[in-house]
Amino acid sequence: MAPKHFLQFQDFSRDELDYLFERTRWIKERFKRYELYQPLRDRTLAMVFEKASTRTRVSFEAGMNQLGGIAINLNRGDTQLSRGEPIEDLARVISRMVDVVMIRTFEQAIIERFAAHSRVPVINGLTNEYHPCQILADIYTYVEHRGSIAGRTVAWIGDSNNVCRTWLQAATLLGFSVHVSTPPGYEIRPATGTRDASHFRFFADPHAACHGADLVTTDVWTSMGFEAENEERKRDFARWRVDAEMLRHAKPDAVFMHCLPAHRGEEVAAEVIDGPQSVVWDEAENRLHAQKALLEYLVCGRVKA
Ligand code: CP
Ligand code: NVA
Repeated sequence: MAPKHFLQFQDFSRDELDYLFERTRWIKERFKRYELYQPLRDRTLAMVFEKASTRTRVSFEAGMNQLGGIAINLNRGDTQLSRGEPIEDLARVISRMVDVVMIRTFEQAIIERFAAHSRVPVINGLTNEYHPCQILADIYTYVEHRGSIAGRTVAWIGDSNNVCRTWLQAATLLGFSVHVSTPPGYEIRPATGTRDASHFRFFADPHAACHGADLVTTDVWTSMGFEAENEERKRDFARWRVDAEMLRHAKPDAVFMHCLPAHRGEEVAAEVIDGPQSVVWDEAENRLHAQKALLEYLVCGRVKA
């Protein structure tokens, strides 16, 4: 039987997502009580990084250890990928040796080629197109702070990147709206973004996008892999900085999120990310708990609490 993968947010159904959020809560509560929970004893996660990472690396490695398993970290330069070994061969080989694989890479097509040749579940740890583990943690964080996200409004300010596209997939699945505001020329392209008209609205003015929002979020102006565009983007995005004045257009109890790493003074002002509406540290911590639930689900299937 083909393994279950998590390559995009929409690979999971609404029911599976609800199950994962419930398991995240259960696993997090046990962890906070210092209770051992090790369903992945004797299991191995391989992590393949073709781009830099802090949170993804630490949360997957720590999470796998906490669940009783081990994680092996492979940076591109340390592997034979850097000497031309095809990604399909890497998939065939390591998926005979480990139980689950996480990959951070460039084009989505690369992870799809890997998954097509893998005997074990594959998790997207970020591609140019999507970052599904981030949005699992973000939605869990919203629910912890404010309750169900169904019917709520998320304002996305800035680049129409991998994180933005994943929010749009989640909106369709979980029934909330995303207001997207990007500078001209950086709009979501229909070929790569999921644009379900009933869950997506575009705003030329970022202040208007924030109006009535329950959650305001942004990300770096230049994502990994696009560094050559950095100076041009700094000019183009100057009006898309989330500052206190912009946040005031959202609901008074709106929360602010950022997947991190953040550049204070570029996409977000320090007064916002370090201010009272920011939940970015809970958001980062929840990568750990949400991904432990994901690892448990992909390796063990549904378990009884
Ligand atoms: N948010 C996130 O994925 O962070 P890292 O790039 O540090 O893994
Ligand atoms: N959009 C960013 C997210 C980093 C976690 C990037 O792809 O670099």
